[in-house]
Amino acid sequence: MKVIAVLNQKGGSGKTTIATHLARGLQLQGHSVLLVDSDRQGSARDWRAVDEDNPVTVIGLDRPTLDKDLKGITDHDYVVIDGSPQATNQALSAIKAADFVLIPVQPSPYDLWATSDLVDLVKQRIEMTNDKLKAAFLVSRAIQNTNIGKDVITVLDGYELPIFNSRIVQRVGYPNSAALGKTVFETESANSNAVQEMTALVNEVKSFLDEE
Ligand SMILES: Nc1ncnc2c1ncn2[C@@H]1O[C@H](COP(=O)(O)OP(=O)(O)O)[C@@H](O)[C@H]1O
Ligand SMILES: [Mg+2]
Repeated sequence: MKVIAVLNQKGGSGKTTIATHLARGLQLQGHSVLLVDSDRQGSARDWRAVDEDNPVTVIGLDRPTLDKDLKGITDHDYVVIDGSPQATNQALSAIKAADFVLIPVQPSPYDLWATSDLVDLVKQRIEMTNDKLKAAFLVSRAIQNTNIGKDVITVLDGYELPIFNSRIVQRVGYPNSAALGKTVFETESANSNAVQEMTALVNEVKSFLDEE
């Protein structure tokens, strides 16, 4: 079982959008997946509640005991944690529970600077676990057909964590699918840009976790 925590204390960075798509995308590739909503606002639980046929299992664990609460859960290929915007101790327990921390960031310096505390926590944990914990940035809500600015790349590089090749672009298809309690995997055709980029993300997460 691999635990993937989608974390960034900055609200609106796309955590819930990415966590729900990652969970569903892994499931569509035949894996058993549990989505853990660690946000007290319960966005992933709200999403799950819209459509009673939603095939993703979502549970809420929104306390700083998340790592301990997850200990009994072992019967899934992947657990995806949708991160909360709340306190550091909550983020810390998600980091402790995780094999992999995926940090979605909007390509703006303000958003990047706001992740520095999280990056510090993640790096401390990587050191403590002798590199057992992995982490990477994912550019989220990028503007289509626009290059990420050089200055943004410089700030990102400065954090010295891997940056995923896949990127998630700002597309109306994401909120539209969420409003139906679905993902773009259900609401769009297989060759749509949104399905293609989310599939690329799922594949990149899997191969990143398989690397030694
Ligand atoms: N790639 C995207 N394209 C368009 N809208 C997005 C995208 N990612 C997130 N959003 C929208 O932005 C808002 C915040 O995204 P959300 O995934 O809830 O972020 P977080 O969980 O980090 O707060 C939501 O309304 C969501 O639908
Ligand atoms: Mg959220």
